[in-house]
Amino acid sequence: MKVLIIGSGAREHALCWAAARSERVKTVFVAPGNGGTGLMGGKVQNVPLKATELDELLHFAEDNALDLTIVGSEQPLELGIVDLFRRAGKKIIGPTQAAARLESSKAFSKAFMKRHEIPTAGYHVFRDAPAATIFIEQSQTFYPQVIKASGLCAGKGVFIALNREEALTAIKNLFEDRIFGDAGDEVVIEEFLHGQEASVFVLTDGIRYRLFLPAQDHKRIGDGDTGKNTGGMGAYAPATLVTPEVMRKVEELVIKPTLTGMAEEGSPYTGFLYVGLMIDRGEPSVVEYNARLGDPETQVVLPLLKSDFIAALQASVDGTLDQVPFEMHQKSAATVVIASGGYPDHYETGKSIIIPDEFTSMDNGMIFHAGTASDRGQLVTAGGRVFSVTALGETLRESIDRAYHIVEKISFDGAYYRTDIGAKGL
Ligand code: AMP
Ligand code: GLY
Repeated sequence: MKVLIIGSGAREHALCWAAARSERVKTVFVAPGNGGTGLMGGKVQNVPLKATELDELLHFAEDNALDLTIVGSEQPLELGIVDLFRRAGKKIIGPTQAAARLESSKAFSKAFMKRHEIPTAGYHVFRDAPAATIFIEQSQTFYPQVIKASGLCAGKGVFIALNREEALTAIKNLFEDRIFGDAGDEVVIEEFLHGQEASVFVLTDGIRYRLFLPAQDHKRIGDGDTGKNTGGMGAYAPATLVTPEVMRKVEELVIKPTLTGMAEEGSPYTGFLYVGLMIDRGEPSVVEYNARLGDPETQVVLPLLKSDFIAALQASVDGTLDQVPFEMHQKSAATVVIASGGYPDHYETGKSIIIPDEFTSMDNGMIFHAGTASDRGQLVTAGGRVFSVTALGETLRESIDRAYHIVEKISFDGAYYRTDIGAKGL
């Protein structure tokens, strides 16, 4: 088989790694990929096409007679890449544009959850500043309140307002200053949920589904979950707070009604579904859906999949998802993100990176690249998040220690990482 992976982060590096391990795969193309996927060699090859160049990606898939395309990031899904490929008869993993609204429109996903009685925070939707302002000034709301741009904002469109002034500032930022542009044309104001977050990923053909191990992300930049929100500074799996009992509730109260609800409404959901949960005393509620795998959670979830990943994806497009093995290693995994100093605010790029040779090939560790590039043969930093270093262990403790052992020896000017990834799960 020849497969194409679309995207350029550590998640896509992990997707390439998992695809290349499959015996049935001969070539893995990745568009555009990054410095790490460029160094993989063997079956893996970067293709200089952006994730949003849909027509070019389709031509590439047709000209090279590709068997399967896997979409890593959300933008091409929102732009309708799955609809485009399917119309051309090319197999692709992901939801249609209509189904991807579960991520691309929070106004849609909140109303969908309400229609199908899926547990989530109570909410109101606003389309202009005066209506939102009246609501904030006149309603007897409890703080914190959560104020969100409805559209795609790369995880940055959420304000947690601790009082009325902060809520009014958020409304001004969204409607008047338009800091997220059109993504802020609709605004959701919702109740603050207490508890601990976890992510559950589902692979589905619209009817049948299989579950990956639950994971936990670390969204804040600083140790102890302090400071600004980021794209994610590390993750571990399995997340022990998602006990078998909680997972059963997630399946019954969230996953099954989501899949049947989307099918009933005429947009069956296919591909990966990311269910972002808040778990409070064993009761799950949905914080958000994403129409793709999470980053950095993928970097722990895929290495824990024992079965052939590509065989499962193939089965999901063939309607035989219930007939393939989907087994997990009885191990733990942790991934630690190394970022450029200053991230998530201003940071510099182009710094030379040193990775000791001993880490070129490891049994229980993988260095997934996020923002790296090759500059005349030298590996340099090229983004805010630079690496996602994953390690496996018999226990969570062992995987964390092994990941940090590698992280400490990778160096570039200004490298920053959290020192407490996974501690919540110990
Ligand atoms: P979202 O883009 O909706 O996933 O929100 C980003 C992050 O904001 C989440 O991962 C949570 O940490 C936080 N958040 C969002 N909605 C809520 C809520 N209703 N209650 C508490 N925290 C929330
Ligand atoms: N880990 C958060 C996300 O992928 O959106």
